[in-house]
Amino acid sequence: MATDTAQSIFGASMAPFKSLQETVPIAMDMVKRGKFKLLKTFLGPAYDGLVLKKGKQSKQSFMHADHDICYDWTYAKGRNPQIDRLYEAGKAAQWNVSTDIDWTKEVNPLDIARPIIPDKFCPAAPHPMWNKLTPHEQAVERQSLLAWLLSQLLHGEQGALFATSQVVQSIPILDGKLFGASQIGDEARHVEVFHRYLAEKLEKRYEINDNLFVLIEAIMQDSRWDVKFLGMQIMIEGFGLGAFRAIREIVNEPLLEDIMLYVIADEARHVHYGVLALQEFYSKELSEKELAEREDLAFEICLLLQKRFLAHEIYEEFYGQKMTLSQWDQFAYDSYLMQIFRDSMFDLIIPNLKQIGLLSPRIEPLYRSHGLLRNDLGKSAPDMKNEDYLLKVR
Ligand SMILES: [Fe+2]
Ligand SMILES: [Fe+2]
Repeated sequence: MATDTAQSIFGASMAPFKSLQETVPIAMDMVKRGKFKLLKTFLGPAYDGLVLKKGKQSKQSFMHADHDICYDWTYAKGRNPQIDRLYEAGKAAQWNVSTDIDWTKEVNPLDIARPIIPDKFCPAAPHPMWNKLTPHEQAVERQSLLAWLLSQLLHGEQGALFATSQVVQSIPILDGKLFGASQIGDEARHVEVFHRYLAEKLEKRYEINDNLFVLIEAIMQDSRWDVKFLGMQIMIEGFGLGAFRAIREIVNEPLLEDIMLYVIADEARHVHYGVLALQEFYSKELSEKELAEREDLAFEICLLLQKRFLAHEIYEEFYGQKMTLSQWDQFAYDSYLMQIFRDSMFDLIIPNLKQIGLLSPRIEPLYRSHGLLRNDLGKSAPDMKNEDYLLKVR
């Protein structure tokens, strides 16, 4: 008992320092790049998420929102015909989690004969430790990895639900408000479908990753509608869409593949809407200085998405005794799974940033130096068809 008590005291007293180790690199990176304004945006949320662990401390978290609500008395529906068309498409494409998904399909996340995630996509599989595990232990890790990924998507969906609600209030375009209302219904469905799948089929759910919490809180608290929109509709939705199509391609699980097809079709509309609305706003309404600020913010979010989503919750559960956190970070970062996620996500995000005018010659070399820019930039959302969102990696 004495040892247990000592460990718990030691663990508790060390926790803030461990968290600071994660917070400081984010802050130092921004200071090195001279991004003091961005530091202000992220520092509060970083303290809440990484030091106080606000996303993990209780059943609810409260974030303060401070934005203007824009009432549009013109009712000028169709002023932006492309967004209007998306609104019509959104209304026609509503589906029902309860009746359109075949929940009678059996899922066995611990199936040894037919692994739910093939070994080539499991980060730990190339390591000698993997072969020392029993087949059942390997299956538990596969189940946990999928549950971790889907849990983060679930938490991101709840964030998308709130961010969309905020943007509906703030956006000065009526077509945007109407489309946004249809998107709120979509995001509610996504929360419902991922929660139900995790509860009924995987029977496991993880808390929000601290870095995802930081990002979501920073977006929720910014008072500028276009910044919320950029952060959520282009960056986090791009991250989600990249993950959805990667998961659909790598899992051996027909029910989840069906769910992903429904969700991907919805998300494609959302990202398309984000690009249309911001393209117009950024080309007409913002000064060069304001644009450069958005450009810097988008780049910082790209770095966070590239470097900070390394499944620390999986490390703590399975590998904390076997390797150091920095060894795990390198190991997870280099894994085939993470490479696929990064490629899938940035192939979608970067062309959209260019389309909305946030990839100027000033910032392009920075993207290139961090390996975020390919020579053959793909299509942006307005040019993509549904089939372009399906990935082929096997
Ligand atoms: Fe969604
Ligand atoms: Fe969405």
